[in-house]
Amino acid sequence: MCGIVAITSSNRRGDLGILLTEALKKLEYRGYDSVGIAVVDQGNLYVAKNVGTVESVAKSENFASLSGCVGIGHTRWATHGAPSKKNSHPHTDCAKKIAVVHNGIIENYSELKNFLLSRGHVFISDTDTEVVPHLIEEFKRAGLDTYSAFRKAVSMLRGTFAIVAIDIDGGRKLLFTRKVSPLVVGIGSDFVLVSSDIVSILPYTDRVVVLNDDEVGYAEPGRVFIETVGGRSVDVASRVMKVDYGVEDFDKGPYEHYMIKEIREQPYTLNQTLSGLISSRDEVEKSLKLLESADSIYIVGAGSSYYASLLGSLYFRYLGFRAQALVSSEATPYLRGVRPGDVVVVVSQSGETIDTLLAMRESAKRGARVVAIVNNPLSTIARESDAYVYMKSGPEICVAATKTFTSQVLVLSYLGLAMTRDSHRIEASLRALRRLPEITASMISSTENAARKVAKKISTEHSVYYLGRAFGYPISAEAALKMKEVAYVHAEAYPAGESKHGPIALVASGFPVVFTIVGELDELIEGNIEEMKARGAYVITYAPSDRITSTVERNSDLVIPLPQVLLEVSLVTYVIPHQLLAYYTSIERGYNPDRPRNLAKTVTVF
Ligand code: M6R
Repeated sequence: MCGIVAITSSNRRGDLGILLTEALKKLEYRGYDSVGIAVVDQGNLYVAKNVGTVESVAKSENFASLSGCVGIGHTRWATHGAPSKKNSHPHTDCAKKIAVVHNGIIENYSELKNFLLSRGHVFISDTDTEVVPHLIEEFKRAGLDTYSAFRKAVSMLRGTFAIVAIDIDGGRKLLFTRKVSPLVVGIGSDFVLVSSDIVSILPYTDRVVVLNDDEVGYAEPGRVFIETVGGRSVDVASRVMKVDYGVEDFDKGPYEHYMIKEIREQPYTLNQTLSGLISSRDEVEKSLKLLESADSIYIVGAGSSYYASLLGSLYFRYLGFRAQALVSSEATPYLRGVRPGDVVVVVSQSGETIDTLLAMRESAKRGARVVAIVNNPLSTIARESDAYVYMKSGPEICVAATKTFTSQVLVLSYLGLAMTRDSHRIEASLRALRRLPEITASMISSTENAARKVAKKISTEHSVYYLGRAFGYPISAEAALKMKEVAYVHAEAYPAGESKHGPIALVASGFPVVFTIVGELDELIEGNIEEMKARGAYVITYAPSDRITSTVERNSDLVIPLPQVLLEVSLVTYVIPHQLLAYYTSIERGYNPDRPRNLAKTVTVF
């Protein structure tokens, strides 16, 4: 996690500190424990950093006063060492000539630190990162130039990392390397930017080079040099790509939070996803061909992407295909059963989640073909897959996934549907899916008041159950994840029938239980609603109008009607009222839903 940004410019920039601040604001979703920048100006290194948000630290540490030609910035999600000023990046060497920012984990840092301590280096922080500037310093002392010292230092690191360094003696060079954690180089007319994410590059240039694992190099205005750690130089010109996102996609617009903006965008984003699926025939066909040839299908993801995988795998099975969903961080033992001939579908909004990436690599090693579903076609997962589907949901800034979850489910449903090659069924479903924009818009407006009302009740509770059967269970699981993430209410999802096998013990008078009825394969749910009511639960039921029977009415304290739609449409949309509920509960409890504590948008550490 953590966000890195760096710039080298041919002119001395009086606004260097401001520029780094603006770029860091766009990376804050990657971590918000602390913030820091370092610049080289007229032969001196200046470092400013502290605990807090980009805005508050930039103000308190006066980032705006920093000028120069070259600078680096960092927003931190703490791994080694508590969030504190001394542990904030950038970190420096003993002589305060070299500054380093890092995303990832250096596994062998203790061993390297002991070596450096024995060589007389003095450490200030508790981080793994601090070994890097000292290693560079050590190799410079031995006579190497800045780049050679950097290269040698990074060759000694084990773990996952994206690193950028600057050195007073290195002129305008930004030194960089990457192993697993992402790093992108943006090339401008008289500047070069290096960042963890193109979001902070796009306002300045749309020409980018995505670094591959085990590449190392440097950038200075007018020149980008990249080689592999093995010493093979890279033809940079052939790797330059043009990105077609608009900068405006990253704005919050009139909304108070990105979360509500992204929830409300779903009529549009689902339309984008569906149009992309229909118009990008070749890419989608490639994925379909692989899926159709599969002996077994595994669908792998983390967090919300896992729940989308679960929903997708259930739908595949419903259609008669063999499919199994796996949590990526737990996938390894299950992947032992993967054989050549199997297909692994990798679901990841960012395309950079390390657990998912490793599960993907493990599958490929075992001979499986990989189909990825991503929201970033430049991501590592997209680039390493055999075929990928680009969701086209636009940038999702809120840490909690909303619009990308519904797009993931739409892609999986579309792929499942297309695999049936049943033209009548496909045509009928597509007719219904084309109405997603209007159905989604009306679902948002018709359930928003209920979300506000239920939020008032749940905001005073410690715990809530989310229950559903069959398709209703993964939707409940995603709903509960949203509630935990943004409102910090303990929310547990259970298959409704399974709740009798233990969880019901917790239910006492007034305990909130949220049911989601989807309308297929969940006929027995009414009994589960009755059981909860009989124990005094406060029952909230989300159900399509044709499933609001007298039993449901009688046993629910509140019934929220959902539109009665085709299964494929309900799979995509029935989570949306729950997204609204989590959002309003977070607001009711006085939190910022965009920045849940302890979380980062993209998890690039194990
Ligand atoms: O980028 P990915 O889809 O691979 O991310 C996976 C999870 O980290 C992500 O879905 C996470 O659970 C979100 N915070 C959910 O809201």
